[in-house]
Amino acid sequence: MKRKFKMGLIGLSAAFLVACGSADSGSGSGEKLTVGTDAAYAPFESLDGEKIVGFDVDLLDAVMKEAGLDYELTNKGWDPLFIALQNEEVDAGISAITINDDRKKSYDFSSPYFESINMILAKQGTSIKSAKDLEGMKVSVQNGTTGQAALEKMFGKSENIKKYENNVLAIQALLNGEVEAVVADNAVVQEYEKNNPDKKLVTISDKENFESEFYGIIFPKDGEHQEEINKAMKKIIDDGKYAEIYKKWFGEEPNVDVLKQ
Ligand code: ARG
Repeated sequence: MKRKFKMGLIGLSAAFLVACGSADSGSGSGEKLTVGTDAAYAPFESLDGEKIVGFDVDLLDAVMKEAGLDYELTNKGWDPLFIALQNEEVDAGISAITINDDRKKSYDFSSPYFESINMILAKQGTSIKSAKDLEGMKVSVQNGTTGQAALEKMFGKSENIKKYENNVLAIQALLNGEVEAVVADNAVVQEYEKNNPDKKLVTISDKENFESEFYGIIFPKDGEHQEEINKAMKKIIDDGKYAEIYKKWFGEEPNVDVLKQ
């Protein structure tokens, strides 16, 4: 973690200490970036034992290798990740994070790397056909996600919108019968439904009431690495590395044109 030096006496003395104290400083090599995630959002990031695995993990690795940046990915959790970004305790975050205007006020983003849309997960036999049918029903979301925002936009803030610290708990609430549906990103909801046939779930898409979203790597505002990371991102999208990673996790070719608009 490298903090930007603020001007003034403190900055000058810090720069002096760094210059004197570390043999490999100066060229920028030897710096290790800390990247945070919330590893409870398969197939983008989840834990396999101690290891964080997923599409985002492979994408980040390819981008960082391409950019020649050393990094460490750490599992922070969702709400703590945003706090860590604000405090500049992490240099970046990757966590299926949607780029939106609200977040752009407080954070910077890389260029988009994945298109997504919210989707409904419910039990087989449900009467839910569209997002509008969720009105008056108890629905779970991960706190502070675009799923929560989409529901609040449609129905206003409501007691019926049950917010959980992570998406695994939001799905658990559905399985327990505490809520009638979960709203989360389509790939996540579909992955869960497919991998858990015994839970007898269905996914319901609604392209009218939910909006298309794009994920980006997130940075503290005015961080230092956006430019090189964007360059590396563009390179791996153009040279087929991105498509290779996409195929590994989603079993099909990506439409990279939507990322270039
Ligand atoms: N794309 C949604 C958002 O940005 C949900 C992301 C949740 N990611 C996670 N790792 N839990 O709000």
